[in-house]
Amino acid sequence: MGHDLTATHTQLSPIPLHASRGLTLVRGEGSYLWDDKDRRYLDLMTNYGVNLLGHAHPLVTDAIKLQASQLTNAHQSFDTPARQDFLVALGALLPPPLSRISFGNSGAEAIEAALKFARVATGRIGIIATHRAYHGRTFGALSATADAKYRDPFQPMLEGVRHIPFDDLDALDKVLDDSVAAVIVEPIQGEGGVRVPADGYLRGIRDRCDARGILLICDEIQTGFRTGSPFAFTREDIVPDILCLSKSIANGLPIGVTVTTEAVSERVPKGSHGSTFAGNPLVCAAGAVTLRVLADETLHARAAQSGTRFQERIRDLGLPQIREVRGRGVMQAVELKKPATPVIKAMQEAGVLVLPAGGTVIRFLPSILIQDAQIDQGIAALAEALREAG
Ligand SMILES: Cc1ncc(COP(=O)(O)O)c(C=O)c1O
Repeated sequence: MGHDLTATHTQLSPIPLHASRGLTLVRGEGSYLWDDKDRRYLDLMTNYGVNLLGHAHPLVTDAIKLQASQLTNAHQSFDTPARQDFLVALGALLPPPLSRISFGNSGAEAIEAALKFARVATGRIGIIATHRAYHGRTFGALSATADAKYRDPFQPMLEGVRHIPFDDLDALDKVLDDSVAAVIVEPIQGEGGVRVPADGYLRGIRDRCDARGILLICDEIQTGFRTGSPFAFTREDIVPDILCLSKSIANGLPIGVTVTTEAVSERVPKGSHGSTFAGNPLVCAAGAVTLRVLADETLHARAAQSGTRFQERIRDLGLPQIREVRGRGVMQAVELKKPATPVIKAMQEAGVLVLPAGGTVIRFLPSILIQDAQIDQGIAALAEALREAG
């Protein structure tokens, strides 16, 4: 390529990877965001599920300020009180035998670590993922992600990864053999359309994995702390061998963690994984305080109630454009009989932010602290947008 070597500067702009929402966001408070024209929006998407405690939560803000004034970075070859505090806060929520953690900076990184650990711990290469799965877009995570639009431009994917129908134990039976290191699954598929599997699905995977020495990886990057309990897997009384968390656990600062058992951990060679920023004290301080707030069981009971209210109100609307409402807690979706994008746009124009999950699905990932009146406001905006759209 011919570069102009005489130029002294460039007009820098992002590679256009994202469809623009046409808004410049300036500040947030609780369940509201403000744009650069000082217009207020009800935020029912929390940055793709990140700001679970809402924006500018005072405890999180104070923790970040304090930590920023002391120490923002400390590589993991050093110890730091903020990271120790995070370990205590997350450990208090995790069931045994999940006692070992690896830090990353995003959801995709949490998945990368999970896939690497599964391979090295089992000495096998096979990974079973599901149709419509979304696990991120770095190469390993992308290999487990199902959607061809993300995968095809970057083929070939990681060897040994296969996809089978979600919520289908018979399909799983057909692919499990002694070459499989792990099954990776979202307890409720998020990007794939907020799909809730039948009761017994996770338990069925767990039993099949146990019978063959295969590891179960639960990707709770989106479901984590949203579905009426800290983790969606507890509903089926199982524990995964590897758990991936990210999005909400530092209420806005970038973090991803991969939690696993001693048995897996002891097979991971020293130095075989890591990242410069991972586990830094700034993010850990935000994470520790966020997790302590999320340890309050009443919040999870409230999330479950919010989900029930949401579904009842939507069903009460009796709108013919709606095919289905589904989800758990503060992770909900409305499947339409028509494209979702024009409706999402109309809702934004009416001051309510939601997001898609596939072509006909509108997804709601509000704060766990959302008020009933705000849920009702969101539903009113949805109804209005649907009526307008005809
Ligand atoms: C279930 C799930 N896994 C993984 C990811 C990837 O996370 P990130 O975008 O932080 O890489 C996401 C992001 O939406 C997700 O929803």
